[in-house]
Amino acid sequence: MREHVADPSTHQYPSNRGRPGFREAVAGFYDRRFGVTLDPESEIIPALGAKEAVANVNLAFLDPGDVALASDPGYPVYTTGPLLAGAEPVPMPLLAELGFQPDLEAIPAEVARRARIMFLNYPNNPTGGVVDDGFFERAVEFARRHDVIVVHDNAYSEITYDGYRAPSFLETPGAVDVGIEIFSLSKTYNMTGWRAGAVVGNRELVGAYWQLKTNIDSGMFEALQEASAAALRSDQSSVADMCAIYQRRRDVLVAALRRIGLRVDPPKGAIYVWARVPDGETSASFTERVLEEAAVVISPGAAYGPSGEGFVRMSLTVPDERLNEAAERISSLVETSP
Ligand SMILES: Cc1ncc(COP(=O)(O)O)c(C=O)c1O
Repeated sequence: MREHVADPSTHQYPSNRGRPGFREAVAGFYDRRFGVTLDPESEIIPALGAKEAVANVNLAFLDPGDVALASDPGYPVYTTGPLLAGAEPVPMPLLAELGFQPDLEAIPAEVARRARIMFLNYPNNPTGGVVDDGFFERAVEFARRHDVIVVHDNAYSEITYDGYRAPSFLETPGAVDVGIEIFSLSKTYNMTGWRAGAVVGNRELVGAYWQLKTNIDSGMFEALQEASAAALRSDQSSVADMCAIYQRRRDVLVAALRRIGLRVDPPKGAIYVWARVPDGETSASFTERVLEEAAVVISPGAAYGPSGEGFVRMSLTVPDERLNEAAERISSLVETSP
């Protein structure tokens, strides 16, 4: 990044299509990592982070009255984005007993008829759920049957544990006919503040996305495109090192929560632990108690959608020492409770 910031040619208005070097680096990464072939000319557009892409996808593809099927619990922009586009977000419950995957057969026919977009996200925020064999295939089939665009938010594919390898949605046969994927460099390379990602997949949809963006923003800083390309082309050892750190923190936190009797499964991906609250508590009451009595901030599951009720989300993005302290404080709080 330093090198490219010093180069005056990176300071002009960028093109929204992105530098060829950036698009080629994304294509190379998708090929090496997922075995997915993308045409850098027509199937890749830089995004100013996945959030920008998730929000703008709604403006690009939804008309008032359309339905957007949104994972519930889910990243909040899957519901606020459709509302800003005048459309209707309809939650698809992600239940623990179904592996945090929506039951596509349970979507009412009338909703499926009006649906235009389906937001999916694996590894999942906030549940830590990962995709089971066959689910993406079912999503492609649903999309074909109901003429729905699948938007797979792939913010966490590189943050996985215990040797688990997360797939790209675009690995699924037929996926490129029905959808796009949003990739982010934020978590993968610890670049959250840099605002770097990409929208990839179906060329018509990527083209429509570009058409919207060219009327909204002026593209990604070209020095950042070069830095992002360098990260994507690197040997990825930094990503493995970071996952090992998260996995260590995950294990500390899960062990502490289990000691106090909370029911929690260690996630295979993403950077959160999703735990059931103790019997008799709601997600809000337990969050409040942990804040008031242990002075630790956690998130109530219901903040991510109605199906998050009964759960809390804890983040692994604090240094080990602080995380260990938080785990200890939470354990002593529940141990001393009547
Ligand atoms: C599921 C999901 N999508 C998108 C984002 C935003 O990513 P970015 O920093 O690339 O905008 C996040 C960040 O927390 C997320 O959890």
